[in-house]
Amino acid sequence: MLTRIDHIGIAVRSLEEGIAFYEKTLGLHCEKIEAVESQQVRTAFFALGEVHLELLEPTSPESPIAKFIEKNGEGVHHIAYATDNIEKQLQQAKDSGTRLIHETPFAGANNKLVAFLHPKSTHGVLTELCTSENH
Ligand code: CO
Repeated sequence: MLTRIDHIGIAVRSLEEGIAFYEKTLGLHCEKIEAVESQQVRTAFFALGEVHLELLEPTSPESPIAKFIEKNGEGVHHIAYATDNIEKQLQQAKDSGTRLIHETPFAGANNKLVAFLHPKSTHGVLTELCTSENH
């Protein structure tokens, strides 16, 4: 079951410039910066009530985020839903004919297990499922 929107992922060219905007212009506080090697990104998290913003900066031209920015420019990259059972949620999506980017969850930022559904099967929104534990 999906329990809430966990975070919104936003692709940025420069984490420092992105953080400066969210801190200085919007007055949010950057809680932490974390590299996710498997995705070749550096991330910055901001809390806004229950929802977080996740800024994503590519650390290599091979990063999925680098490719996204090359194609679309900076901007909203994905919406992440917290789920109480990620395996079940993935199976449910697969059974309904949704194209999965990841068949099995992997370790994402913030100590979460995550997996993505392909935007071609989700009406254009890259959709992340993540475990609801918030460490
Ligand atoms: Co995410």
